[in-house]
Amino acid sequence: MKPLSGKRIVITGAGGGLGAAYASHAASLGAAVIVNDIDPQAANGTAETIVAAGGQAIAHAGDISNWDFAETLMDSCIDHFGGLDGLINNAGILRPALIADITERDVRRMVEINLVGTIACARAAAIRMRQPGRGSIVNVASGSQAGDIGLGAYGATKAGVAAFTFSMAMELRDSGVRVNALSPLAETAMAKQNAHLMAMQSASRDVRYTKLPDPGINAPVACYLLSDEADQVHGQVVRIAGRQLSFVTHPTIAAPVIEGDWTFETVAHCFATVLKGRQQKLGLTFSGQLS
Ligand SMILES: NC(=O)c1ccc[n+]([C@@H]2O[C@H](COP(=O)([O-])OP(=O)(O)OC[C@H]3O[C@@H](n4cnc5c(N)ncnc54)[C@H](O)[C@@H]3O)[C@@H](O)[C@H]2O)c1
Repeated sequence: MKPLSGKRIVITGAGGGLGAAYASHAASLGAAVIVNDIDPQAANGTAETIVAAGGQAIAHAGDISNWDFAETLMDSCIDHFGGLDGLINNAGILRPALIADITERDVRRMVEINLVGTIACARAAAIRMRQPGRGSIVNVASGSQAGDIGLGAYGATKAGVAAFTFSMAMELRDSGVRVNALSPLAETAMAKQNAHLMAMQSASRDVRYTKLPDPGINAPVACYLLSDEADQVHGQVVRIAGRQLSFVTHPTIAAPVIEGDWTFETVAHCFATVLKGRQQKLGLTFSGQLS
């Protein structure tokens, strides 16, 4: 039996890039897939490719930032395939810009799609999975949540996705519904938009990549998180970057924690003594050796 046999899965933004790779791989592992994209032609294209390869897929185009559409999308999986076992909450946009250049319109659209749309779909899926008491939701975060030049607003939406994932996982603990986030890396239409800023960033980054991986390299991780083999994995951000697979740490309180009755003077004293040299590093960091 294939790892996703019998699973009924919705994948958003699956008309191209990473979403299309997740959809094809999930179908090849036995899942029946609802292929969403805001671009109907792109959604149809992915669904047709899957069906031509012998898999099960139906296209359902629409804008996931629309709250009502998110509900309709999850219902379409139940209507067509008889249930909803998984969601890859993949649809997203990137509008890279330095802080001084970013526009209100771009910020609002990134928040609408990357954050509001992700929450709308995760919520609509969780509500429908709670009753049977099983399901897996994979939200999509990004390394940029740690901070990156030119990716401030985009990274803020992805940090929001990670924070939402942590809270959702806490609420759904013991419900049978698992929630994780995936932090992928791939050469896609989105990644190409960012090429000039990546070059600017290289000097200020701790973690660097010269060549971005193929989208398909990310798909086995997304599909593993959907599968029953991952039934103990919950509330995590999982990073896949080419040959590297890891967890991403949660925001945490850094030691030392100093206790006192705080006045301006005692705060200033603390920063000048105990906290001196302990400021946190910026950007995506790793303490080991990366190739
Ligand atoms: N490519 C990377 O290296 C990378 C890294 C970190 C995170 N991500 C995230 O992975 C996801 C996929 O990225 P990608 O690189 O494949 O991007 P992409 O631009 O190649 O594909 C995104 C797809 O989402 C669709 N889409 C956009 N807005 C939508 C909406 N409102 N409703 C439905 N569909 C919509 C687009 O039409 C497109 O087909 C995004 O959430 C992105 O932020 C990508």
